Amino acid sequence: MYDHKIDAADKKLMYRDLATALRGLVEGEPDSVANMANAAALIWETLPGLNWAGFYRNVGGELVVGPFQGRPACIRIKFGEGVCGVAAETRQVQRVDDVHAFPGHIACDSASNSELVVPIVRDGELIAVLDLDSPTQARFDAEDEAGCVALGDILARVL
Ligand code: SME
Repeated sequence: MYDHKIDAADKKLMYRDLATALRGLVEGEPDSVANMANAAALIWETLPGLNWAGFYRNVGGELVVGPFQGRPACIRIKFGEGVCGVAAETRQVQRVDDVHAFPGHIACDSASNSELVVPIVRDGELIAVLDLDSPTQARFDAEDEAGCVALGDILARVL
């Protein structure tokens, strides 16, 4: 049973604990669906103020929705399209304070106002992107970005 609740009051500590918890959940488990599902659930219950948390996988050069928490979402996204597609194409983290000002943003959930997308790359290959959405404008700061990049590094080894 997983009944550990991470305290979100101190962001630095929260990301440290989140990384430790994620490592514990995925360590030794080779199934990528299981690992994405547990990662999405862990992030969803730990980070305050999200309306979507999950994965788009690189399936033959197109992003296809993977395990997530939140409302049902767009299934397929082309590289270069929307925030996720730009993250996939450029392999650069996309931290967007106002998604409505992002050219080509794909509105899967009209509640979303800001977004953080972290590409997950292993051996030069894009495996997936981790996508977090929030109804709060500018929900994600540099500390969230660094914390989620660290989570992406853990996941890169097990997806
Ligand atoms: N808004 C994203 C699409 C995915 S949903 O937010 C879950 C985008 O523009 O890529």
